[in-house]
Amino acid sequence: MKNNTIAIVGATGKTGARVLNQLAAQGYVTRGLSRHTEPVFDWANRDSWHSALEGVHSAYVTYYPDLAIPQAESDIRAFVELAKASGLKHIVLLSGRGEEGAQRAEDVIINSGIAWNIVRASWFMQNFSESFMLDGLKAGQLVLPEPKAKEPFIDVDDIADIAVAALTREDLRNQVLEITGPELLSFDHCVQAIAEASKRPIGFQTAPIDAYLAAAKADGLPEDIAWLINELFVNVLDGRNESTTNTIEKVLGRPARSFQHYVETTLPSGVWS
Ligand SMILES: NC(=O)c1ccc[n+]([C@@H]2O[C@H](COP(=O)([O-])OP(=O)(O)OC[C@H]3O[C@@H](n4cnc5c(N)ncnc54)[C@H](OP(=O)(O)O)[C@@H]3O)[C@@H](O)[C@H]2O)c1
Repeated sequence: MKNNTIAIVGATGKTGARVLNQLAAQGYVTRGLSRHTEPVFDWANRDSWHSALEGVHSAYVTYYPDLAIPQAESDIRAFVELAKASGLKHIVLLSGRGEEGAQRAEDVIINSGIAWNIVRASWFMQNFSESFMLDGLKAGQLVLPEPKAKEPFIDVDDIADIAVAALTREDLRNQVLEITGPELLSFDHCVQAIAEASKRPIGFQTAPIDAYLAAAKADGLPEDIAWLINELFVNVLDGRNESTTNTIEKVLGRPARSFQHYVETTLPSGVWS
């Protein structure tokens, strides 16, 4: 079984890199895919998909920039059709909680006729250290659109553990694995936890969404990313995801990692200095 090739789409990303490392360490044959791998895989160039998927048995799929965008459903549909024709037997899709666009892409996978898993995750803790919030934290002042709800941020190491379990455990086949961190947290709380651990002041300020997007667009934010920010902060962060799940404990037999653990283990990297 370990000789069946597992493709990781988005292999250099926050979750993909961790999934790839874990599988390789366990002796699985892996094929990391992104725009900078050989073979190349580019969501924007369907001609690149065929050779990337040749001989692949199962796949961990992360969509870019986000499964919530309108283009995602059609890309995922075309990907599944090609993957099936290429002989793919099992697909594990990383999805987001409470996103209508992501739900449509999930339905494509669930109705694909091949074995599937949906790893439906809350907001990543690593958005504070490996993504869009890092610049503000480093500058000492994070400004975000006003969030209307608390969020059960999840450690991407937990997402990788769940994705690897889904890829390698027969007993988990054909299930939605809805996963969150262990506690509901405000953005302000998270910023202050990072400031305290880093021993330097970091401010947190919110702005009305229209003013935030107008300023960001004036700084060159592309229209599609502006749409995504509006979708995530206004629609998805409206309280619909203000709950935790116990899926990590049920699947892995241990609790989800806490935000404090994330801060303590990330601090030594110097990313917030
Ligand atoms: N951030 C969150 O809080 C959150 C929460 C729930 C779900 N999600 C989901 O997470 C997914 C993103 O996963 P991630 O955070 O692990 O990835 P990520 O850290 O955003 O990294 C993106 C990966 O995709 C690759 N990539 C970028 N553009 C590409 C393209 N045109 N074609 C092919 N590959 C491309 C990148 O590599 P190259 O640059 O080399 O191509 C990289 O490997 C999204 O679909 C989102 O819906 C995110």
